[in-house]
Amino acid sequence: MEITGVNSIQGEIKIPGDKSISHRSAIMSALTKDTVIINNFLFSQDCMHTLESLKAIGLKIEKLQDKLIISGGGINNFVEPDDILYVGNSGTTIRLMCGLLSATKKGLMFVLSGDSSISKRPMERVIAPLTEMGASIFGSKENTRAPIVIFGSIGKLKGAKLNINVSSAQVKSCIALAALFADGQTEIIQPEKSRDHTERMLEYFGADILYDGKNTIIKPGKELNGRNLFIPSDLSSAAFFIVASLILKKSRVILKNIGVNPLRSYFLDVLLNMGANIKIFNPRIINNEPVADIESSSSKLKGITLEKQSIPNIIDEVPALCVAAAFAEGQTIIGGAEELRFKESDRISSIASQFKKAGIDIIEQKDGMAINGNCNTNILGGDFDSYGDHRIAMALAVLMLRGAGKARILGSESIDTSFPGFIYELKKSVR
Ligand code: S3P
Repeated sequence: MEITGVNSIQGEIKIPGDKSISHRSAIMSALTKDTVIINNFLFSQDCMHTLESLKAIGLKIEKLQDKLIISGGGINNFVEPDDILYVGNSGTTIRLMCGLLSATKKGLMFVLSGDSSISKRPMERVIAPLTEMGASIFGSKENTRAPIVIFGSIGKLKGAKLNINVSSAQVKSCIALAALFADGQTEIIQPEKSRDHTERMLEYFGADILYDGKNTIIKPGKELNGRNLFIPSDLSSAAFFIVASLILKKSRVILKNIGVNPLRSYFLDVLLNMGANIKIFNPRIINNEPVADIESSSSKLKGITLEKQSIPNIIDEVPALCVAAAFAEGQTIIGGAEELRFKESDRISSIASQFKKAGIDIIEQKDGMAINGNCNTNILGGDFDSYGDHRIAMALAVLMLRGAGKARILGSESIDTSFPGFIYELKKSVR
């Protein structure tokens, strides 16, 4: 992607469906015996890997215009695929599928594998708890990495009380899916709260589940009933346009139907505390998920400090937040965020190295970063590396809207992982 500075952005931006909820909608619909129609599903690379994996294990999935139709079969109808299940760059696909596939019929074998970034990401966090529940699941590098091999273990899975030492919705969701088919109750306890889309959708489909974001209790045995779904638009994608409107002069954008689940929307609270002009209106609940419309406009920002307990609720928005911090008066400190090192790229090092190159005063720390911002920060052009990470590519693109010269963002095709229309929407909004 080549990009030069612009004066302002304006108008209504179409934000695609939420990535986390899209993955879950397909997987959970597959577990029901019903036909589920899903509106505003995110047809991005990551979610397509979930759909392809589900097709390979026997699900009937159709796309009709912008709708996704899944004819679920229930876990007993899943079949062994002819080939490995390739998840590309998608951490959510591989981790959630581990839980789901562990609960399939005995005798079925599955191999999950992904791209070079997936092979570097930690998998013991799902392999260990599933093994404790009785699953037959093995990973390479002594059960710590993909590729992962799973043998169906329904009837062998036992409910367990699992204290997981990382606050990860992917881990929690993986365990929850296996727990639906285990013998006895499963309790999952995390250090901090993390996004609860799985719990909300399971509740909506009729599962016996209690949750507060941090602790989840699942009792197996209740049949899931598929219900048609509308996927809220993704706040993590909206984040880039919100920040763009804040840092550019005479800018104002409207974003509709955005998911504002309280365990995802901390980003908006942080920006409001930084002095952002953001209005959240028309709040409503759709399919058990809070949704609202958002208006944001040019703002005078000030720095902020973020600590460990809040990080899981803003984890995917840190790249966008760092762009806002570069133009906020004073220092922004993001601490307790070492999980960022295990994302699609090591996001602490990707952000620090590329922001420094752009002329930003940023200091890389073991568990985060410190940014000395200034509303007149001069952004330099040149070649920048996104390290194949969609959110780094979009953060750099937004940063370069304030650039003095031409910038090239390498690896920007990764944006299709979560926001296929990003460049189109950006071009459309420039005034
Ligand atoms: C996700 C959970 C988060 C997030 C990722 C999507 C999910 O990951 O960063 O983009 O869909 O559950 P972790 O669970 O690893 O924190």
